[in-house]
Amino acid sequence: MIKGEQFICEFCETKIEVVNPGEGKLICCGELMKRVIDEEIEKRHIPKINIDFGKAKVSLDHPMEEDHYISKIELLSEGKVLNFVELSPGDEPGTTFKTENLSIGQLNSLKARITCNKHGTWDSR
Ligand SMILES: [Fe+2]
Repeated sequence: MIKGEQFICEFCETKIEVVNPGEGKLICCGELMKRVIDEEIEKRHIPKINIDFGKAKVSLDHPMEEDHYISKIELLSEGKVLNFVELSPGDEPGTTFKTENLSIGQLNSLKARITCNKHGTWDSR
């Protein structure tokens, strides 16, 4: 849960905004509330992964400013983190990981995960 994130109840359509994030789950009408995802925010946070000759290039179109930046990019396969880089404001919002030692199975299930300091964690598709 992130400050400013919105959730909606799919039954009664109550919509709430997180003011003070906690660890709990948001429940309304007896069901988990659904996170409201703004299309523009989604477009800027879902990483693109391009796999090519021993490399996986992860990129996205996201600001890298002091108060809003991508802090981490992870490379995952079969649900496990294989490698990661930590980024700082001013860095490029992307990286390239070497994949030459991976098996075909690992290559086939490669995914990227990014962490934005404001908007949380997002996975490639
Ligand atoms: Fe962000």
